[in-house]
Amino acid sequence: MTTEQTRLTLNNGLEIPALGFGVFQTPPDDTIAAVTTAIADGYRLIDTAASYGNEREVGEAIRRSGVDRAELFVETKLWISDYGADKAQVGFDASLRRLGVDYVDVYLLHQPTPADFDDTIAAYQVAEKMVEAGKARAIGVSNFSPDHLTRLLEKVDVVPAINQVELHPYFTNATVQHAHATLGIVTQAWSPIGGIHRYRPADAPGSGNVLENPTITDLADKYGKSPAQVVLRWHLDQGRSALPKSVNPSRIAENIDVFDFALEPAELAAIDALDTGLRGGPDPEQLNTRTFPFAVDNS
Ligand code: A2P
Repeated sequence: MTTEQTRLTLNNGLEIPALGFGVFQTPPDDTIAAVTTAIADGYRLIDTAASYGNEREVGEAIRRSGVDRAELFVETKLWISDYGADKAQVGFDASLRRLGVDYVDVYLLHQPTPADFDDTIAAYQVAEKMVEAGKARAIGVSNFSPDHLTRLLEKVDVVPAINQVELHPYFTNATVQHAHATLGIVTQAWSPIGGIHRYRPADAPGSGNVLENPTITDLADKYGKSPAQVVLRWHLDQGRSALPKSVNPSRIAENIDVFDFALEPAELAAIDALDTGLRGGPDPEQLNTRTFPFAVDNS
């Protein structure tokens, strides 16, 4: 396997590995083992969030890894229960404390709260201050639509470096990708191999296993790679960052073994054509502390 990893340059000059390791839905008890395996296999970007409940374990795995902190990219997110200026500062400091780090490489607002957008803006402005203070090397957002980005950019100084959004062959989020290209924002895919569809009823529109789609499995056969590797390659070949999640050591290794082949333009287009336009995750337009009352415990 070629180990040289693709890197992406963010709009503030920071270079990050394009492929990162995701821990959404990874129970705290499994997180140290999963992140330890991932770092040993060569992952250098680890994505977590205050709301995942496993920042402590991510930090512990990082410390145990023996890999220099400067070589690792730690990304976490502020949950909406901590939006607003005062709460955002508390939430940010709590994430640093749980992770046990002096700084994070990438700090994201986890969701827009369109109905309470002043709180979203105030939280982002705290993140901007964290960059000035050297506590975050880059900041960005997650699950923002082009309209949310426009509303944010009217009020803040720092253009988000990253927008992390649901993006896989069944939901290619083309309008968001287009807005990012215009604004100089890196598209980072959550659920990059379509795992989110596991949480949908099997008969729901747009559901189904991306990894069993014949377009994907035919390409896997052609290249002698797995379906997941083909989908991850599609992300990388189109210039995106992708964050596959796994707790399984062989799948963790499989998902980073993607740097020895590339898809052809027509193959990339064939995967694009699988888009159903239906997201598996929640509609960001509906998100706020009333529709999602879960609150992060920062004590
Ligand atoms: P597991 O953690 O047991 O490996 P996504 O990141 O797109 O949300 O996908 C994550 C889901 O896909 C998880 O259920 C994960 O399960 C599974 N998964 C991760 N890597 C692979 C792989 N290479 N092949 C098949 N399934 C995978």
